[in-house]
Amino acid sequence: MQLWALPAHGLIIEPFAGSACYSLRHHEKQVFLVEKNPGLVALWKFLIGSTPKQIRSLPLIRLDQEVADLHLSDPGAEMLIRYWLARGCASDPPTQPNAWMVKHAKKYPGCFWGVTIRERIARQVEAIRHWQIIEGDYEDSPDVEATWFIDPPYQEAGTSYKCGADEIQFETLAKFCRSCRGQVLVCENQGATWLPFVPFAITKGTRKSSQEVLWSAKQ
Ligand SMILES: C[S@@+](CC[C@H](N)C(=O)[O-])C[C@H]1O[C@@H](n2cnc3c(N)ncnc32)[C@H](O)[C@@H]1O
Repeated sequence: MQLWALPAHGLIIEPFAGSACYSLRHHEKQVFLVEKNPGLVALWKFLIGSTPKQIRSLPLIRLDQEVADLHLSDPGAEMLIRYWLARGCASDPPTQPNAWMVKHAKKYPGCFWGVTIRERIARQVEAIRHWQIIEGDYEDSPDVEATWFIDPPYQEAGTSYKCGADEIQFETLAKFCRSCRGQVLVCENQGATWLPFVPFAITKGTRKSSQEVLWSAKQ
């Protein structure tokens, strides 16, 4: 990671948490997440509050089973498993192994819910015990000095999320980003104009690559 993109503060705030990749990379910092999708909030609350033993006691799933067959009492545990039944879900994850998992689970055990993934999460889960998450809108973030990693759904292409770009007023979001105190990093996709973004990186997806752009400020 380029030096200027490293967190300059002890507190990281991600007002559009999703899978919180930036915070995971700097997990030892204080982390405050805000997320509008209740399923994702339940998942993070489950992970933040779980011990390695609780993760290791989660059931595995057969390729012909539905997640409801596992009779999980915690909705967050159910969401965790559901997100591992497919690859990269922006919308609601499937309730049973999808066709891709059925075809590839044996060959790629590190990509789907199974012993490998369950053990990896169990080994790492203590590292986020000190994190906090709230269910809400990005504007509910605390007004404090921090490193702000702001990664909303893309203005143009981000409509497939359960809580997507169609529900966001980007002019209002731009004002919010400019008002955040501390170090501010805002991600978007090429073509977005709601802040003066500059090219940052090219990411390669399974089918096409994408030009990521960034706006950063220290205020
Ligand atoms: C592009 S994703 C974030 C990706 C994240 N940086 C990661 O590493 O996975 C955007 C996230 O913002 C959430 N979201 C959408 N509108 C929101 C809002 N108004 N307030 C808070 N979160 C919102 C979506 O549910 C989604 O999880």
